[in-house]
Amino acid sequence: MASIGKPLDRIDGKLKVSGLAQYAAEFNQPNMAYAVPVRATVAKGTITGMDTAAASKSGGVITILTHQNAQKLKAPDPEAMQKADTSLGEFLVPLQSNKVEYFGQLIGVVVAETYEQARSAAEMVKVRYAKEKPAVDLKVALQTAGRTQKSHRPGSPQVNEGKAAAPLAASAHRVEATYTTVVENHHPMEPHATIALWEGADKLTIYHTAQGVMRSKFALAFLFDLLPENVRVLSPYLGGGFGSKGNNWTQCHLAVMAAKAVARPVKLVITRQMMATTVGRRSATMQTVSLGADAQGKMTAIRHHTGTYQNLAAFLELTGAPTQTLYATPIKEITYNSARLTLCAPTFMRAPGYAPGCFALESAVDEMAYKLKMDPLQFRILNHTSFDTVEKLPFSAEYLLDCYRIGAEAFGWSRRKMEPRQNKQGRWWVGYGMASAVYHAHRSITAVRIRLTADGKVHVMTASQDLGTGTYTIVAQTAADALGLPFENVTVELGDSALPPAPLSAGSQTTSSVLPAVMLAGEQLRKDLMALAIADGKSDLKGQSVDAITYADGKLVLKSDVSKSDSYRSIMRRANRETIETCVTAVPVTDRKMGPSSPPCMVGEAPADANADAKKYAFNVFGAQFAEVWVDEELGVVKVKAITSVHDVGRIINEKTARSQVIGAVIYHIGQALMEETAFDPRYGNPATRSFADYHVPVQLDVPPIDVHFINKPDPHFAVTEAKGVGEIGGIGIPAAIANAIFNATGKRVRDLPLTLDKLMAG
Ligand code: MOS
Repeated sequence: MASIGKPLDRIDGKLKVSGLAQYAAEFNQPNMAYAVPVRATVAKGTITGMDTAAASKSGGVITILTHQNAQKLKAPDPEAMQKADTSLGEFLVPLQSNKVEYFGQLIGVVVAETYEQARSAAEMVKVRYAKEKPAVDLKVALQTAGRTQKSHRPGSPQVNEGKAAAPLAASAHRVEATYTTVVENHHPMEPHATIALWEGADKLTIYHTAQGVMRSKFALAFLFDLLPENVRVLSPYLGGGFGSKGNNWTQCHLAVMAAKAVARPVKLVITRQMMATTVGRRSATMQTVSLGADAQGKMTAIRHHTGTYQNLAAFLELTGAPTQTLYATPIKEITYNSARLTLCAPTFMRAPGYAPGCFALESAVDEMAYKLKMDPLQFRILNHTSFDTVEKLPFSAEYLLDCYRIGAEAFGWSRRKMEPRQNKQGRWWVGYGMASAVYHAHRSITAVRIRLTADGKVHVMTASQDLGTGTYTIVAQTAADALGLPFENVTVELGDSALPPAPLSAGSQTTSSVLPAVMLAGEQLRKDLMALAIADGKSDLKGQSVDAITYADGKLVLKSDVSKSDSYRSIMRRANRETIETCVTAVPVTDRKMGPSSPPCMVGEAPADANADAKKYAFNVFGAQFAEVWVDEELGVVKVKAITSVHDVGRIINEKTARSQVIGAVIYHIGQALMEETAFDPRYGNPATRSFADYHVPVQLDVPPIDVHFINKPDPHFAVTEAKGVGEIGGIGIPAAIANAIFNATGKRVRDLPLTLDKLMAG
């Protein structure tokens, strides 16, 4: 009967493969016009002239907007926007000035009758610039960079500055190395798209690729100075997001401006090439990790310093995060320096901070284990902690040691030879490596409306999103169990800002945030049914107390005598109710103060999971990842032959969708480990990698068998559902596991991502 825990197929699976699931760009409107942006061809400078005369005369062109004629928008104010529970991908609103901040910046938009006409005319716009020198080299820029002042998280990102030097110097063993990671680009399958429709001057609807419809709505209300209730954002299906659709980018605002200017619906879909310049990137990092250990192999201190860049946003790649959480080291020093580069804003990209941070930390840990002549897994077990030594809080639930044990067994870690270059298969060196993974577990306030009809059908509504992750399905599973009805009876509506507010689908927080609210809404609905039954003389349950009643199979049942029951259908029929509906808000005590997007539908008593003990714990998910790699002796070609990935993420709601999340994450981070890199031309500041021809991501032949395991032990302190997020943890250790396996295979330590063959063959 229970749906939670079953590996059910996705509700939306058939809609997607049959083309019936409608994505943002597919909501064509009558009388719709098409917009194509004009892009800056310098990395820094001032526009001194834009000649649109020829383009304007081109066939089908309706209008061309530039900084010379565009409407003025409200200047973005990061603090005010944060209070409204929103932000922008970058604090750069289009067409408000003649300044160019990076190559590819959207500096104009052509609106025409057809896409091809708009595209052709956009090519005809002539732009003159007063150019300035681009700065795209992180290493050079870091020479004059200071300490990072601010990140997207409250407070200073610096932790225990200067405290590690003395214990490191006094350590019996010491390892220090610098690891670098490169700029990576967002390339979800579905590029960013917006269809904008104005009704009059003050009412706006957009179909938009949004990981957060509420967040997008409040950003638009702010910039266009509209009442939030007059803005509606719809994002029913997404072809991935990975952080790139968490905030609105210029693309969205251009579509809205264009629709206003031509008083018609306008569609703006960016091209794959524009994805390379206008929707944020993962910033490059240079991380120096210093580890100290005593004679027995206990770590005495870690210093993790990161140099990176920030631009046009407060976002910081928080690479020190895993160092803060993993290992029982008494002293942890985490510092950041930030340079400025003439590049678009760094932004959230799957496992931001944690993935590049774990590459550095978990490579250094491997290096220390070799230095100590210890098995790297044993070294990790020896230094394991169940306590956050920086926050000084115990972990709410933590089964990392089980991850290590189960992973080692499933992977066959015992095959591994301690010394490198011991295992050869023909011309291939074979090696085994592993790494720990950690990611924070976060919940946000969420409201859910649930409606039961007399025929036993349930409809669940919330302004959450399904990025392709399985939200529709796990919401239905939770609602089915909360009401004791079959999974097939439940329909789910998501991705519409007119529904009860839900948070951004990012930071692996959708399972964490939305499902507790679904469960509480189901409970409230049962209570409403009980109230009807208890008051009804014709009910078997007449006069009983709420506590005496349970539920199963679409019925309320007396706990002490299961022969006494009343079905939802009869209760509703006798009460003359076709539907019964309730809306509930789940408020985690760890959530920040409620913003204006917070829900209107708090019912009756405080939510049952107002987990008052939550402030006593640090919440995280954990994992261990193992890699087998083969390295061609003569060519340096790396093949990943097998991955085992084990996760401690609380209760598993749906093994199938959870497993798919992990498989996706492993592949994602194989890309980060071996191939993904955005390369810039230092002369012009433009990305030289502009398409999938040169920005490489893994293809089928790059993907080995991926063996996925879940500990599946509930976290009772986290939420009533006892389930944490699985979106990001699955790949966080992969780059280090692969780098460590390459060292085990070849004896060559590569400290710079991606781990390409030139680096393996070098000196
Ligand atoms: Mo993600 S980077 O949490 O969308």
